[in-house]
Amino acid sequence: MCGIVGYVGFRSAPELLLDGLTRLEYRGYDSAGIAVQRDSEIGIRKKVGRVEELRKLVAANPVRGSIGIGHTRWATHGATTDVNSHPHVGGNGEVVLVHNGVIENYAKLKEQLQGLGYVFRTATDSEVVAHLIAHHLEEQIKLGEDPESVSTYMKAVEVSLKKLKGTYGLAILFRDLPNLILVARAGSPLVIGVGKGEHFIASDASPLAGYTDEVVYLADHEMAVITADHVDLHRRDEGRVKMSVQTINQVSTDLDLGKFDHYMLKEIYEQPESIENCLRGRIDDDSATSKFGGLNIDPQELRLVDRIVLTACGTSWHAGLVGEYLIEEFARIPVEVEYASELRYRNPPLTERTMVFAITQSGETADTLAAMRECKRKGHKSLAICNVVGSTIAREADGGIYLHAGPEIGVASTKAFTSQVTALSLLALYLGRMRHMSYHAGKRMISQLRDMPDTIRRTLGCHDSVREISAKYAGYDNFLYLGRLYNFPVALEGALKLKEISYIHAEGYPAAEMKHGPIALVDEETPSVFVIPRGAIYPKIMSNLEEIKARRGKVIAIACEGDHRIADLADDVIYVPEVEDFLQPLVTSIPLQLLAYHIALERGCNVDRPRNLAKSVTVE
Ligand code: G6P
Repeated sequence: MCGIVGYVGFRSAPELLLDGLTRLEYRGYDSAGIAVQRDSEIGIRKKVGRVEELRKLVAANPVRGSIGIGHTRWATHGATTDVNSHPHVGGNGEVVLVHNGVIENYAKLKEQLQGLGYVFRTATDSEVVAHLIAHHLEEQIKLGEDPESVSTYMKAVEVSLKKLKGTYGLAILFRDLPNLILVARAGSPLVIGVGKGEHFIASDASPLAGYTDEVVYLADHEMAVITADHVDLHRRDEGRVKMSVQTINQVSTDLDLGKFDHYMLKEIYEQPESIENCLRGRIDDDSATSKFGGLNIDPQELRLVDRIVLTACGTSWHAGLVGEYLIEEFARIPVEVEYASELRYRNPPLTERTMVFAITQSGETADTLAAMRECKRKGHKSLAICNVVGSTIAREADGGIYLHAGPEIGVASTKAFTSQVTALSLLALYLGRMRHMSYHAGKRMISQLRDMPDTIRRTLGCHDSVREISAKYAGYDNFLYLGRLYNFPVALEGALKLKEISYIHAEGYPAAEMKHGPIALVDEETPSVFVIPRGAIYPKIMSNLEEIKARRGKVIAIACEGDHRIADLADDVIYVPEVEDFLQPLVTSIPLQLLAYHIALERGCNVDRPRNLAKSVTVE
């Protein structure tokens, strides 16, 4: 995790770095820091808490210069303290760096460096890198290398990096070599923004919006020396390489909350549009199917696919579960949904005809990336369903589907989930029409999908009743979320939302499976949220609800408009529009997002920046 920024040019670095860090705060917000260089003076300011806290510190105690690096932290090694915040200093101040990633062999290296007399000030793995580079710099100079030559510094960094096990994105300043930043990458993303007489560095392209559209994505084991006018790119064991500058079409991230109090609420309300954007241009009415511009896979090859693996983490994994139901129902292709963190180390017997889809909002999740790479290594076609254009997963996939949901800033994913489900519905239609699905069935599915933006608008009408119900239930410390078929993943997602932002214990379960354990938890103090729209197995899930009521459990039901029977049984009902079974997740997930949001507010929690979490998890 963690976000890195850097700047070298003619502007005042501190403001630029602070603005960049604000845009990268979704990657971690335990603490933040900047280092700004002027000649051989490097001023460091760092502080626990949000970038806003750092901004106040810098205002009270300014640093000046046109070159600098910055960092927003999600702690892995070492508590969240001012001292453990980045930037870190190596040797006697000759090296200052920020690091994103995890150094797995840091303990051994630390011991060796301590043996050599290096004094550690922090409990982080990153400080090891700073001292290690300082040490090798000293060694190079002792060997007679020119202390004023850039190549001496590059050698010192290269030797140091070869000793590291783990992942890193690094931006480094050298006290005695002003006017340049050295960056290096292995496993953690880094982008260089190319300007006129200035260069930018960031963990992803979002902080560059408004400054430049020209970017260079650093590849693993590449490092670059960056000055205001030049980028010198090197690849491990190959030496200097030509850099490839890409033009990206990026609109500045909309950080404006508009009429909303939080990004999460804004994003919940954006769902009619985000779903519409996901559908746009992807319907082929004449052939009653869907179409995708970027799958990069021959339809003939697709017809041969006999197994699909969907891999993801968190909310995206829940979307994958919905995808399993959709693809198996409409395309009759067996689907497995794998946690990316498991898949990357498992060795499931995938066949030549297996196709892998990584599902990810950010396109940067470390486990999802590693699982996709592992599948590619074994020769499987690997595609991505991704929101962030130009992200690492989007670039490395053989092809894929962009969500076009727009930036999602709230840490708890909302609109990305419904867009992922929409994209998976389109995929199920596409694969289905290649196989058994009739023209008329395809037409029907298209018309139902087309209605969804309006249906979601109507669904948002439940907001007032959700608000009232939330106030009533905010004091409970345990919840069950229950649903069946398409609403089982919705129950998991609803429980996750509540856990993430209100810190309440919640479990999602298939409603009938609840009898095999979780029902033991049911009493007057453990409410159950039942996702129970009319549909194929409505009477079955109704019996499950009765089982809870028989044990004096309180029930909040998510039910279809006009369902009066449920009102007699449940303690509280949230009504949503009735849709076909396969579209229910798009509708029923909305009141659960709102429920989590309002319960979190009632409990005084920070809904957009919940404790311990980050939007993009770039460590494994
Ligand atoms: C983090 C976020 C979740 C997200 C998950 C996967 O845990 O807090 O909201 O679902 O990562 O992220 P991805 O970007 O791969 O969808």
